[in-house]
Amino acid sequence: MNHPEPSIDYRSDTLTEPTPEMREAIAGAAVGDDVFAEDPTVQALQHRVAELLGKEDALFVPSGTMSNQIAVLVHCEGGDEFLCESGCHIYNYEQGAFAQLGGVVARTIDGEDGLLNVSQLVDKIRPPNAHLVRTRLVCLENTHNAAGGRIHPHEEILAIGRWAAEHDLLCHLDGARLMNAVVATGVSAADWAAPFDSVSICFSKGLGAPVGSALAGSREFIQAAHRKRKCLGGGMRQAGILAAAAQHALAHHIERLADDHAHARVLAEGLAAIDGIELLQKTPDTNIVIFRIDPALGSAHAFVSQLAEQGVKMLALTSERVRAVTHLNVDPDCVGTAVRGVEAVIENLRR
Ligand SMILES: Cc1ncc(COP(=O)(O)O)c(C=O)c1O
Repeated sequence: MNHPEPSIDYRSDTLTEPTPEMREAIAGAAVGDDVFAEDPTVQALQHRVAELLGKEDALFVPSGTMSNQIAVLVHCEGGDEFLCESGCHIYNYEQGAFAQLGGVVARTIDGEDGLLNVSQLVDKIRPPNAHLVRTRLVCLENTHNAAGGRIHPHEEILAIGRWAAEHDLLCHLDGARLMNAVVATGVSAADWAAPFDSVSICFSKGLGAPVGSALAGSREFIQAAHRKRKCLGGGMRQAGILAAAAQHALAHHIERLADDHAHARVLAEGLAAIDGIELLQKTPDTNIVIFRIDPALGSAHAFVSQLAEQGVKMLALTSERVRAVTHLNVDPDCVGTAVRGVEAVIENLRR
């Protein structure tokens, strides 16, 4: 059999490459030394992000991981605890940096389909007692990656924010894919961000920039975040060439996320019709499709490696679960080829 080179790559929306127009924006960027706060493009981006998220100030950082960890390290001291959903990125996929670097602990709570609500949080605040850690912060993720790009209902987020404020808890949002939620719901970024003391957004996921995230919050919070960024080695010099890509993404790549969402729905529909595949969510909220392979057919790892031979790449999350993420570098016209590839592999595994 003649196997094509893998070319339809659904493993992650981080695989996006700068478009020619984005490369032009990068090439033309005005720059300066951002450690001296002299890079005009970084300054403009930070201003734009603060405005977009309805916060006083914002800080450009190299990655979503650094952005989240700076937030936790600014909000918490050693011996403090934050509450988060069990499947969230901050807890599972960032090496527990908050513990390594800040002596901060996390208390995970199983959400319903990855989503938390106030009733799950009410009994999780530790009483003031010298034996106990101090509950300080709530971290939410919207959209929720491991839950299949799920959107937190806005009302639930507002309710969690009210409850947290009543109990003197701070709130941080990992909004790596917040713009997906904005486009899918029509709720503005500022309205999503309003209940949070800090919000992180990523430019390097569905927005299609090569590098970068931003953290937004009060002026005082961003001053402290700026110190932490330096301490973590995140001060960048002529970072305007990266900020220009992020600015371009904010100007040109937000509305098109709707195309990724439509693409994900078509992909999910095609996969749902295949015997041996069970979708986590029949109709994905945004751009992430997660499905389970019937374990009787073999492991998800075997499935994705055979699928790659068909020219389609997906990611095995566990021995049973596979993730496919739509993004601007996968043409929606390829969806039929992808579904046929999955059908062929399942057929093969069945033999
Ligand atoms: C929800 C979420 N938060 C944070 C991150 C971390 O971003 P980065 O890879 O830029 O460190 C990711 C990365 O995929 C993510 O999916």
